Amino acid sequence: MKMEWVYMCIATLLACYIFVNKIVKNLNGWYYTLKLRNKDYPLPPGHMGWPLIGNLFTFIQDFSSGQPDSFITNLILKYGRNGIYKTHLLGNPSIIICEPEMCRRVLLDDVNFNLGYPKSIKKLARCRPMVDVSNEERKHFRRVIIAPIVGHKELAIYIERLEDIVVNSLEELSSMKHPIEFLKEMKKVSFKAIVHVFMGCSNENIIKNIGSSLNDLYKGMFSIPINAPGFTFHKALKARKKIGKIVQSVVDERRLRIKNGEQVGEKKDLMDILLEVKDENGRKLEDEDISDLLLGLLFAGHESTATGLMWSVTYLTQHPHILKKAKEEQEEILRTRPTSLKRLSLNEVKQMVYLSHVINEMLRCANIAFSTFREAICDVNINGYLIPKGWKVLIWARAIHMSDEYYPNPQEFNPSRWDNYTPKAGTFLPFGAGSRRCPGGDLAKLEISIFLHYFLLNYRLERINPECPITNLPVSKPIDNCLAKVVKVSHA
Ligand code: HEM
Repeated sequence: MKMEWVYMCIATLLACYIFVNKIVKNLNGWYYTLKLRNKDYPLPPGHMGWPLIGNLFTFIQDFSSGQPDSFITNLILKYGRNGIYKTHLLGNPSIIICEPEMCRRVLLDDVNFNLGYPKSIKKLARCRPMVDVSNEERKHFRRVIIAPIVGHKELAIYIERLEDIVVNSLEELSSMKHPIEFLKEMKKVSFKAIVHVFMGCSNENIIKNIGSSLNDLYKGMFSIPINAPGFTFHKALKARKKIGKIVQSVVDERRLRIKNGEQVGEKKDLMDILLEVKDENGRKLEDEDISDLLLGLLFAGHESTATGLMWSVTYLTQHPHILKKAKEEQEEILRTRPTSLKRLSLNEVKQMVYLSHVINEMLRCANIAFSTFREAICDVNINGYLIPKGWKVLIWARAIHMSDEYYPNPQEFNPSRWDNYTPKAGTFLPFGAGSRRCPGGDLAKLEISIFLHYFLLNYRLERINPECPITNLPVSKPIDNCLAKVVKVSHA
């Protein structure tokens, strides 16, 4: 009798296991296969995961445990090097693309693909003139907002102010008695820089007030979009509102100054341009649009650049021979500088060839934006596979950046791989591609170059937990935010 019970239990457990693994786990996949059975092309290989949640848990586990590449590696092991896979992620049926040519096809195709960011990001980074308008009008606004940051002449104007921000913050950081969270400090640097570039103001109050709210806004990026007290998304929406009000007060002040005929700066900044610009129908922008555009730039440019600054310094510190070579280049720039010059010039930044390779290698290894999101406007056939209308398309650039097919020994941080090397189209996508390619890439690189110039010449980083684990959600960073001391190097 006793043995019968044991057999019964084993049989029940086995039945449950088979039911869950062979039936429940495949329900999602069967549902979509059935729904799309009459289409001309098959879905790409892959797995749709569990009903409702799809592959979310595996994704979170891989990305937060510091093994982000195992998500794709497992797909490749199971389904082959196809470069295109189906999945269900962040609440949506999705297609992951991680092959250069297909990535480019999607990113360059504004007719068949729209932006497809998760609901939480869409709401938090809401920006009508860059999203909810025709492609033509969007391109018009894009040209307007990028005018102050594209081209050498435009960027050269900011060097002096960026230098001041960098020099002061490094001085302040090295005077701290206690270790600091280096990433948080880099956010202050990149934030001051971006406020200066776009709003032409260095008002400490604005910088202080917006700074902490931006952190709350970021935390809500990949949160569950539930707007109820206690939820991260709710806090993020409140932060957005607060930042909107602060930005609006800056807009109001600028309007008043213009009305009173006061000159704000030597040159028009983005705020002046936005107050003047008209849409296709000759209408000026609403205040809400201006504030959304400015907020969008803060959102897009602040955390990404700060993360880039942190990883550049961290990688250099972890590789003393690379740091030495990068430092020698900066010393050479000082040695050859005419005595009449006291500050950095754009020409000198252009001479920093090795440093630019360090930055490229940082962008390749750190993979600051984990994916670029699109949504299919209609059914699209790509390489014989179907991307169904309404499905998300995730351009998984990190899989390309970390593939030995394009970058031999991809885990190695090796700036010299960029010596005389121009990446093939689609194999280096830190700033995306196509009509939505990041317009702030050159500004971000300039900021990082100026920071590294002063850091390499005068400081070093002493991390408190150099082996600290890394998380990749929502962006890649050590979980202690790079706790460290910035130490001034004495020039004996
Ligand atoms: C290391 C720093 C940065 C990285 C890695 C980065 C990455 C990216 C990527 C991958 C995209 C493309 C998104 C897509 O196609 O959906 C993008 C778009 C964008 N970035 Fe950046 N970015 C950086 C810095 C900046 C800065 C400093 C600014 C502001 C000045 C900025 C402003 C923007 C804007 C406005 C867009 C949207 C463009 C559009 O939709 O037309 N970014 N960025």
